Amino acid sequence: MNSSDHNSGLEPACAKLRRGSLMIRLIAISLVILGITGLFAYTAGWLTPNVLTPTRIIDRFEQVNGEHPGFRRNHAKGVCISGYFESNGQGVGLSKAVVFLPGRVPIIGRFALAVGQPYAADSAHAVRSMALLFKLPNGEEWRTGMNNIPVFAVNSAQGFYELLLASAADPATGKPDPSKMSDFLARHPESAKAIQLIRASTVSSGFGDSSYNSLDAFRFIDAQGSALPVRWSMVPCQPFEPFNAALSRASDTNQLFDALIADIHSHALQWHLIITVGQPGDPTAEATLPWPPDRRQVDVGTLTIDHVESEDASPARDINFDPLVLPNGIAGSDDPLLSARSAAYAESFTRREGESKNPSAVSTAQTGR
Ligand code: HEM
Repeated sequence: MNSSDHNSGLEPACAKLRRGSLMIRLIAISLVILGITGLFAYTAGWLTPNVLTPTRIIDRFEQVNGEHPGFRRNHAKGVCISGYFESNGQGVGLSKAVVFLPGRVPIIGRFALAVGQPYAADSAHAVRSMALLFKLPNGEEWRTGMNNIPVFAVNSAQGFYELLLASAADPATGKPDPSKMSDFLARHPESAKAIQLIRASTVSSGFGDSSYNSLDAFRFIDAQGSALPVRWSMVPCQPFEPFNAALSRASDTNQLFDALIADIHSHALQWHLIITVGQPGDPTAEATLPWPPDRRQVDVGTLTIDHVESEDASPARDINFDPLVLPNGIAGSDDPLLSARSAAYAESFTRREGESKNPSAVSTAQTGR
């Protein structure tokens, strides 16, 4: 047998082998593509229509507030601020976070109203918020978002999702449908109690004399590695004045923001950072419940805000105040709202950063920058 006879027997076998291995590769590639598509579909919630995903939460904000490209899907109307936090050293025994070492760290932040409509008129009863990013000297950051209410209205992402719809304006009347709200409260007695506490608290005259509360519980870790449950608040140095509806100027749709800007232009505003230390048994996974009023409170330093800037000009517009961006020495608790917030803020951030920007209701003409 010459060499060509030999090859003619082998060639079909080699071709078959090559075809076989090509098929195997094609099948493997298809499986990888299918897997990736499935993963995307799962993440987007297409395979699990009854599971609450960040996509669905943010879709619901858009459903009830309308679409406002470029803006935060909640706390949409805001103004940016900067200044510094001066630690007095009293926090060192509670947490090893470097923010509590005596000294000053810069902060950048944002005041806002907790509605998803960037051009809504200011109202006394809209929840006010203060969001802060502490820039620590070792490169770490502490981001926190706080509200001026004593407790949060819901204890879960599912509760928030349902409350958004229950409190949405009915297109027929322009007002929320009371029967939807009473159905929601019947299903969520924890929210009924929390909303009573929120309604019983006296609203202050503006952003500058409001206290702002973390509401969620966190954990402070000290130098020995021991953990303490904590909540924190920014308590104003500005004297408290109750909101006076008679003085309210209905013609000024930005009255709360205008007053804040005028205050900061005339003098720096200050708050004490007060840490409340929980005791065993205090609820850490239930933001609708207050802790007993006799808990130990430690004043760990003073926040000074001396600059105000429109969102149109400030880098704070593009910050995601994710409550789980924490320095070494501060950790999340078992509160399920924390991871829900982190995921929902990321979805809101991703959408707004991909959209073209529209001017803020609080413009550079008002803030002077
Ligand atoms: C499941 C519950 C919650 C959901 C779904 C939710 C949702 C959101 C969303 C989508 C944003 C806009 C984020 C962005 O685009 O950067 C936001 C902002 C904010 N939220 Fe929440 N939130 C929840 C609970 C809370 C709680 C418990 C607090 C506690 C104080 C809070 C405080 C804030 C603050 C201060 C901001 C404004 C941050 C800023 O100025 O950028 N939220 N929230």
